[in-house]
Amino acid sequence: MNNIEDFLKNNKELINNFAENYIENIEFPSILKESVKYSLVNDGKKLRPLIFLAMLDHYGYDYKNFLDIALSIELVHTYSLVHDDLPAMDNDDYRWGKFTNHKVYGEEVAILTGDAMQTLAYNIISKNDILEDSIKIRLIMLLSDYSGVNGMLAGQIYDIKQDSYYVDENYLENMHNLKTGKLITLPLIFAAIISNNDNDIEFLTSYGYDLGLAYQIKDDILDYYGDFKLTGKKFSDEDMITYLSFYGIEKCEELLDLHTEKAKSYASKLNNSLLNDFASLLLSRQK
Ligand code: IPE
Ligand code: IPE
Ligand code: MG
Ligand code: MG
Repeated sequence: MNNIEDFLKNNKELINNFAENYIENIEFPSILKESVKYSLVNDGKKLRPLIFLAMLDHYGYDYKNFLDIALSIELVHTYSLVHDDLPAMDNDDYRWGKFTNHKVYGEEVAILTGDAMQTLAYNIISKNDILEDSIKIRLIMLLSDYSGVNGMLAGQIYDIKQDSYYVDENYLENMHNLKTGKLITLPLIFAAIISNNDNDIEFLTSYGYDLGLAYQIKDDILDYYGDFKLTGKKFSDEDMITYLSFYGIEKCEELLDLHTEKAKSYASKLNNSLLNDFASLLLSRQK
């Protein structure tokens, strides 16, 4: 791989095309299928599946053999956003530069669309015919842990139920690690498990922790200061405590740099320039 920026650019279409074909070829109700495709195949960055594929490439694997696993990761991420945008949650009208799923298909279908994506993700991993069953079980366990009651879901609860807790620095950090960091870390560990690089998992977890915090800080900054033409979404968190409302912009920029630098220090412990460059790229992202 020459550089991570090119890798991301060159392979996004590969993921979108694979996702579109995969969904197209399963038989299920056409309204649901259309809705799944609407939110899955679009201008989203596809960062989680892409860093998974880039890591497999780094470990010397032909990443094109693992597009199904990449898709399973993106399905869980996308389900979380379709539900996150619902009126009962963040009540957002725009995502990926177009109307949110429920604005187009209605709330009932949007809820079922998230459910469909989540179950498809596990179905896809279980049907993979390259990996050994023991590896597939580890992937399924990790995906359910990192997206479930001790992972992304817990973070979402801490986010929407802020009123029930005392929100301080530690609360925010934990919430952001859970709601965002876990699914940023997951693709790295997936690649390590598939390629038998279990020794890397500890540093990858530390890297993902700091990168995940940096990612959410940047997300909060872009939600408020970003350009809709690039981010594709509008600011709607006025009633929520975010990094930005809690710390203010100057401190946020400081924390963003700090966590990016910490992530990079773990990348250097792993001797992994790909992960170093990935952290730099995310720091300067505008979408
Ligand atoms: C948005 O994630 C929600 C967060 C966890 C910060 P992304 O910015 O990665 O979502 P895409 O690229 O629009 O799918
Ligand atoms: C979403 O967090 C994180 C999820 C787990 C879905 P936000 O609500 O802060 O993300 P955006 O700004 O809607 O993408
Ligand atoms: Mg939210
Ligand atoms: Mg939201």
